[in-house]
Amino acid sequence: MARILITSAIPYINGIKHLGNLVGSQLPADLYARYMRARGAEVLFLCATDEHGTPAELAAAKAGKPVAEYCAEMHAVQAELARGFRLSFDHFGRSSSPQNHRLTQHFAGRLAEAGLIREVSEKQVYSHADGRFLPDRYIEGTCPNCGYEKARGDQCENCTKQLDPTDLINPRSAISGSTDLEVRETKHLYLRQSAMRDQLSAWIDSKTDWPILTTSIARKWLNDGDGLQDRGITRDLDWGIPVRKGDADWPGMEGKVFYVWFDAPIEYIACAAEWVDAGKGSDWERWWRTDKGAEDVRYVQFMGKDNVPFHTLSFPATILGSGEPWKLVDYIKSFNYLNYDGGQFSTSQGRGVFMDQALEILPADYWRWWLLSHAPETSDTEFTWEAFQQDVNKDLADVLGNFVSRITKFCRSKFGETVPEGGAYGDQEQALIADLQARLDRYAAHMDAIDIRKAAAELRAIWVAGNEYLQAAGPWTVFKEDPARAAAITRFALNLIPFYAGLSSPFIPDAAATMAGAMGVDPAWPDSAVAALHALPPGHAFTVPEVMFAKIADETRAEWQARFSGVRS
Ligand code: MF3
Ligand code: ZN
Repeated sequence: MARILITSAIPYINGIKHLGNLVGSQLPADLYARYMRARGAEVLFLCATDEHGTPAELAAAKAGKPVAEYCAEMHAVQAELARGFRLSFDHFGRSSSPQNHRLTQHFAGRLAEAGLIREVSEKQVYSHADGRFLPDRYIEGTCPNCGYEKARGDQCENCTKQLDPTDLINPRSAISGSTDLEVRETKHLYLRQSAMRDQLSAWIDSKTDWPILTTSIARKWLNDGDGLQDRGITRDLDWGIPVRKGDADWPGMEGKVFYVWFDAPIEYIACAAEWVDAGKGSDWERWWRTDKGAEDVRYVQFMGKDNVPFHTLSFPATILGSGEPWKLVDYIKSFNYLNYDGGQFSTSQGRGVFMDQALEILPADYWRWWLLSHAPETSDTEFTWEAFQQDVNKDLADVLGNFVSRITKFCRSKFGETVPEGGAYGDQEQALIADLQARLDRYAAHMDAIDIRKAAAELRAIWVAGNEYLQAAGPWTVFKEDPARAAAITRFALNLIPFYAGLSSPFIPDAAATMAGAMGVDPAWPDSAVAALHALPPGHAFTVPEVMFAKIADETRAEWQARFSGVRS
């Protein structure tokens, strides 16, 4: 049995994520996890909150709470929203966990032993107006690489270059806007990533099947000469993982913590340990240590494009540099950005639709379907309310929902709530089975390749094929002349419902459960179209499900559009 380890980039703790964040990692990761489970693989699907760093400290201060308390609360909020969107994590951990403290300190110790860490006396920006050292992302200025004026001290959003704050031109405090900044001397640890350049380069070169988006970003930073600079992995902050060398103190590093980007990816590993300690699993090393069973695990990561450098270079440098047999990622699926109605989603500006708001107005399946079928795989894509209304009404209400309701109601009125017997299948049914088998094969191939939009298009075509069959076969007309033949058509169409439930479940799990439940079965991946379409025998009882998808009216759409046009308060 295949074993698949799946991680989604772990969302920052400081606030509720917007739909652009959701479709850039957690949601596609969930789609793949559900699909792989449906295909019989043993899956471990992990995500967590990314809790360290200044954003957490500042958000806690703003909320007037101690940072540990703030993080615990926000973790619970994000976990609840994840459940609301039906994200099927085996564990939703926390990067502040004791397990991550231990592992992060362990990795630092191993890297030091391997001679991959050097101590650097460094200049750090102190803000007089704010009365504190300014961490990287709280310094803004002009990007030396592309000239973007709102680049942050850790990374330029515009060109994805990883930066140090002192690289910025015209720096200012992002907290107060003050330019009254002073550079002070302090000691920090640097990871000698540059020493691993050849090893990382060969590794990336071996990944010929990775999405271009992933490898092009990795190569860009490997090959442009300064792409693999050594990275500072410590910070002068209170909140974080104390700098230690394994179990031992690290002289000179007292009072400092690891940089959030050093400990966050290690949480992918720690999360598996949390999963075991929470009593949900029994052996996490079997997923993470190639000397303990993980050599036959396939590890797939999901993330937005801004996360790619950290996952193709920095985290692999940590793993390889440790000299221990940790599992390296096998496939990185990365995403472009989803824009919002003519601009960008923005957490800091509160622009767009956020996960809590989305679930207040519609059930998860509407969002899952639209977002996944428009996943920004090959380019940035845009959410507009018009497109959302149109696609949801058509695909979910007119095509899928209408099919299910039409055939179950017709059957109930003419034959009662059991699958009717009698009549024979003919050419129409043979043709549909052949068509559906070909589509099923293509759909599975797209899902295997994590080609999400192509998979969604094929699934939609599978729904459409059933609708067209029903329309062409017209059991309501046939019934008058030939009730037996109408019974056969009805039986065949009813059998399409569990078939659809099994195939649709990774995209729209609630609707799939409703469809399967109405037919008295569990959603299951079909062995073949022909087998699936003979699964419900005559006499099998069913119920007519509630309306699965309500159409979005123009007025409602306009109301939402107005409600979400401004800025979240
Ligand atoms: N919190 C980061 C973000 O939202 C992602 C961290 S992913 C990990 O962009 F690798 F650090 F885990
Ligand atoms: Zn730039």
